[in-house]
Amino acid sequence: MNAGSAISFPHRHLLGIEGLLPPQIEAILDLGDKYVEQSRRVDKKSNLLSGLTVINLFFENSTRTRTSFEAAAKRLDADVINMSVSTSSIKKGETLIDTAMTLNAMHPDVLVVRHSDSGAVQLLAEKMRGAVVNAGDGRHEHPTQALLDALTIRRRVGRLSNLTVAICGDIAHSRVARSNMQLLQIMGARVRVIAPPTLLPAAIDRLGVEVFTDMREGLRDVDIVMMLRLQLERMQGSFVPSVREYFRFFGLDREKLAYAKPDALIMHPGPMNRGVEIDSDLADDIDRSLIRDQVEMGVAIRMAVLDILTKSLRTEAGTTL
Ligand code: NCD
Repeated sequence: MNAGSAISFPHRHLLGIEGLLPPQIEAILDLGDKYVEQSRRVDKKSNLLSGLTVINLFFENSTRTRTSFEAAAKRLDADVINMSVSTSSIKKGETLIDTAMTLNAMHPDVLVVRHSDSGAVQLLAEKMRGAVVNAGDGRHEHPTQALLDALTIRRRVGRLSNLTVAICGDIAHSRVARSNMQLLQIMGARVRVIAPPTLLPAAIDRLGVEVFTDMREGLRDVDIVMMLRLQLERMQGSFVPSVREYFRFFGLDREKLAYAKPDALIMHPGPMNRGVEIDSDLADDIDRSLIRDQVEMGVAIRMAVLDILTKSLRTEAGTTL
């Protein structure tokens, strides 16, 4: 760990995992470790971002991602403005670019954006003066989720390299899967995806992962089982015969988990559909499930990302680190 030492992070924005190098990912994870410690203290606050403004702009519903970005920014003493679609002018027909211009006039230092269209966050980033963090764009990327998942695994298992991770379920509609497939491979893990053929993206063979359409085969000897929600809101038409059928073949229960390594760990980015992609009892099994740790790591990773992206700003302004 080298938290606190000089970190070189040459990116102005965090739009995706694509393009990040292992030392840059490690730098964020190391800082994440530091912020886990800070978040466990009774006094959780430091003043790293005093005077800076963070805007959370959410065009899509979110519970944990939005609140954890808010908690992260507040813990570092930034001024936080939360905007969601229902209260913004987007509903009145304002374009994304007009929104960017309006927000620019408020001089945000960091803009955290979630949008239902893949690529929308990149478009906004091109027009923004401050740093932009992608909090999930369509089915494209969700980089802070992959980073918090990596921190969760690294803290529990001690490493990311030479692990076999199975990502299971609705891969086709999942930005979590896309970001995780990239990050885990960059860090030397082997990645499998397990899904019914209807829930696999068309270009899956180009992503470097092993593909399975049978849970028992795909789970054999894996270290980590990452379950995904069926993203019904992104589906036009029917991709699975019925939710009951889906659970029977692709839901994680103890019988299927028995094919994985005896100490295999379970993850889920949330929100969970208990009884659809995961057996409720397994999700709550404190020996096997890392789901609660993932939420804790979410705040720490977002603090780390806010820290790293504002570093040059703070250095220019002469603020101490
Ligand atoms: C995920 C998302 O929004 O992409 N959730 C999250 O960020 N915690 C996954 C999902 O919605 O199923």
